[in-house]
Amino acid sequence: MTHTPLPDATLDQLFREARSQNGWTDTPVSETLIRAVYDLARMGPTSANCSPARFVFCASPEAKEKLGSFASEANRTKILAAPVTVIIGHDLKFYERIPELFPHNPGAKDWFSGSAALAETTAFRNGTLQGAYFMLAARSLGLDCGPMSGFNNAKVDEAFFAGTTIKSNFICSIGTGDPSKVFGRSPRLAFEDACRIE
Ligand SMILES: Cc1cc2nc3c(=O)[nH]c(=O)nc-3n(C[C@H](O)[C@H](O)[C@H](O)COP(=O)(O)O)c2cc1C
Repeated sequence: MTHTPLPDATLDQLFREARSQNGWTDTPVSETLIRAVYDLARMGPTSANCSPARFVFCASPEAKEKLGSFASEANRTKILAAPVTVIIGHDLKFYERIPELFPHNPGAKDWFSGSAALAETTAFRNGTLQGAYFMLAARSLGLDCGPMSGFNNAKVDEAFFAGTTIKSNFICSIGTGDPSKVFGRSPRLAFEDACRIE
């Protein structure tokens, strides 16, 4: 396959003009759109294709109220105003699905099943990556994102993941943002400050 750089307008939508949202319009987000975002996001790479991320879409007023009750006051207001807020978590026992997800090496399951520390690091690393893929997938399909980590993870885990091995990582509202609620753009590190080529 030949790859060419994406058009400038697409890069603007994904990166240069995309902003973290604080307020939302009442444009709804349909289940069809939520599924389309996941269908793209799931294609991003993870180690041994382990795919540890698990997503809970809080779309009902009850689910958003429950989630908001474990968030900081400012984040609670943002959650209640958003059409949907997704909890991005990761399953610490993601390796149970490796025989199905990594069929050319089903024994890769044992790399993780024998070490809780390696399993946890791998779940967090790849689950976080999948959260990032999710945000770019959402932006690709025309949605805005409002990521947040200001909430009590233990309480969210108890309320949404009781009896499972899933742990919450961060949450992200999706929908159509209200541009009047966006903060001024903060600077980013220059290449010289963040990178080196050896
Ligand atoms: C993992 C993560 C956690 C964040 N947590 C919060 C939060 O708890 N509350 C909030 O208002 N913004 C939160 N933000 C938003 C960041 O402050 C924002 O993405 C950053 O300042 C860049 O803004 P920009 O995308 O508009 O340039 C979070 C962003 C990320 C990626």
